[in-house]
Amino acid sequence: MSTQQAHPGRLATAAVRALSPYVPGKPISELEREYGIGDVIKLASNENPYGPSPAALAAMHAALAEVWLYPDGGAHEFKRALARHLGVPENTLTLGNGSNELLLLLAEAFLREQDAAVCSQYGFAIYQIVIRATGARCIEASALDAHTGMPYGHDLAAMAAAITPDTRLVFIANPNNPTGTWVDSTALRAFIAAVPAHALVVLDEAYLEYAALSGVGDGLGWREEFPQLVLVRTFSKAFGLAGARVGYAISHPEVADALNRIRPAFNVSNIAQAGAAAALSDLRHVRESARLVVAERERLASALRALAVPFAPSAANFLMVDVGPRAPQIYEQLLRGGVIVRPLGGYGLPRHLRISVGLPEQNDRLVRVLGELLRSA
Ligand SMILES: Cc1ncc(COP(=O)(O)O)c(C=O)c1O
Repeated sequence: MSTQQAHPGRLATAAVRALSPYVPGKPISELEREYGIGDVIKLASNENPYGPSPAALAAMHAALAEVWLYPDGGAHEFKRALARHLGVPENTLTLGNGSNELLLLLAEAFLREQDAAVCSQYGFAIYQIVIRATGARCIEASALDAHTGMPYGHDLAAMAAAITPDTRLVFIANPNNPTGTWVDSTALRAFIAAVPAHALVVLDEAYLEYAALSGVGDGLGWREEFPQLVLVRTFSKAFGLAGARVGYAISHPEVADALNRIRPAFNVSNIAQAGAAAALSDLRHVRESARLVVAERERLASALRALAVPFAPSAANFLMVDVGPRAPQIYEQLLRGGVIVRPLGGYGLPRHLRISVGLPEQNDRLVRVLGELLRSA
């Protein structure tokens, strides 16, 4: 047997073999299995603890009757509803199996091996993966210093300086995950205006609905002014549909056309399309649950202050906390206490944990268990 037969993984491209895989939040079932405990809470993937609108659940149940049929690959009904909701033409929209898929499609469509893409230190980890998978160079701009008003946040000046003549994509999350930090709208607009015409700006607004409640503006109004701007959004967070996998990009029609050429034909299931369309008809649920989550975030922030645990400012539904050099042990002990949070060592933030805002009783439990751990240290 030849070496290649024995190790078929070696046939993957060098770029793919060099990737470090994305580490998602630990699923509840995995913790229950591994540690033999029950009553686990997950505050690790920034989901909406209130779930989706009942209208979305009902629509998904109804859509099950047609699960034996392929979905409408063009998602006409859902796209029409989404275009109306956003006030944009349908030909500016591309749907994804979660916004994660759109990030992948953007890299696939716009990056060649000889190209580069810019992202920020502590930026969402998927950007580096999708860039590097193509063989393109990933240029990471340093984030703002830990002692500034926006610790660990995107440094727009550093990002602008990182753009090279071979740069084709620039990734910005506003607010950013895992830091929760944000960039000011006026500064962001000026940044986008100065990006040379050979690069697209991918503005990832996964936490838009929470950010809006914190006074952080979104980029929808800049769509016509900046043909290079691609907004990426999701139904996974405030819309409470993370398991359904629906994301979308809003871009110049030519960019949407390029993305749609390589998009898998049936990437959003009929169940997901029905759920997301129905979720758009109940925006009150989204607004109300986002309002409750933001109020809880502030309550959690006060409790963390009382425990003398520093955290970065957040315009999203999570807080990035600095629990000191024992963070890996604290993460592990929280798991034993039935609380899943996200360790951030992989982001180069070994003292930090990311805590998604949960239901009030879940946040109380997190604070109680964390407080006990810190006191016993
Ligand atoms: C900033 C950001 N962008 C994109 C995503 C991907 O989400 P989804 O693929 O569920 O839409 C996430 C998920 O955590 C995120 O935090």
